[in-house]
Amino acid sequence: MWMITGGAGFIGAHVVRAMTEGGRRVVVYDDLSTGDRDRLPENVPLVVGSVLDRGRLDQAFREHGVTGVVHVAGKKRVAESVERPLHYYRENVTGMATLLEAMADHGVDRMVFSSSAAVYGMPDVDLVTEDTPCRPMSPYGETKLVGEWMVGAAARAHGLRGACLRYFNVAGAASPRLSDSGVFNLIPMIFERLDAGEAPRVFGDDYATPDGTCVRDYIHVRDIASAHLAAAVRLEDASAGTALTLNIGRGQGVSVREMVDRVLRVTGHEDVRPVVRDRRAGDPARVVASADRIRRELDWTARHDLDEMIESAWRGWRHRHP
Ligand code: WQD
Repeated sequence: MWMITGGAGFIGAHVVRAMTEGGRRVVVYDDLSTGDRDRLPENVPLVVGSVLDRGRLDQAFREHGVTGVVHVAGKKRVAESVERPLHYYRENVTGMATLLEAMADHGVDRMVFSSSAAVYGMPDVDLVTEDTPCRPMSPYGETKLVGEWMVGAAARAHGLRGACLRYFNVAGAASPRLSDSGVFNLIPMIFERLDAGEAPRVFGDDYATPDGTCVRDYIHVRDIASAHLAAAVRLEDASAGTALTLNIGRGQGVSVREMVDRVLRVTGHEDVRPVVRDRRAGDPARVVASADRIRRELDWTARHDLDEMIESAWRGWRHRHP
């Protein structure tokens, strides 16, 4: 039985879907601070609790016979983490320590951990490999890197089998009901502007990139989810002390301008012209994954393209903003 922390959230609910479709039994553990129980199928049990609540974790491990944890729960807003760093350390780092201690005490020895490309900061390489130095630029990125260190340390000391998955830019939805309700990333921010009758904004067009705008590696949340299933399957048979760190990306750079143009086309707003604004503080020019290691280690590769990300995100947006 796999416990999915944060399973009622946008990414977690997609992981629940992929794991159950992959034949795994799952229990969701979520404090519902940003999660929504409507994202869960009826036959999946939900324990409402915080990863900081050791008693609740103990009870859930016992009652559901948990053998592995996919730890998706966490705070994930970069700007908020700059304003409230200690809150992020508490939720993401103390939460992780509490969870790993509970796991060790209950003999739960498999963990798939949601990490982020934010651990790299401003990488100055064309394709970011897992060996590219980690220099996080925000407390958010720091907490993800510390989480990875904890997985590594628990693997060495307690025989944990762990996999840290570094997500690049997540987009799309498997169904409107599962879609992201937040408006914190490029694609939903474009949708919001269009609904308000305003032009989408491009934050900076003087970067050292082919069209001057920032380049990212966008990946469909269904692909993110299938990578978790692949990692969980791998850990079920891994030897004690295994610790994997894997990028989850497509390995394809897409500029902000390309993305905006494509969103305008897909949503039928060809007449709209984006406006260029100042650079946003802290944005790296280019962050694109090398997806070689995950292909090699898990025989996993992304299947969904940009148009599927945009079309499914747009259906989700219309569902939430009728
Ligand atoms: C993408 C690009 C913006 C809005 C962050 C975190 C990362 C991960 C995903 C969490 C940037 C530009 C945006 C707009 C724009 N988070 N942009 N106009 O910053 O690459 O990554 O979110 O787990 O760790 O760092 O994602 O979607 O905010 O921005 O031009 O209206 O789009 O400047 O270049 P980012 P994003």
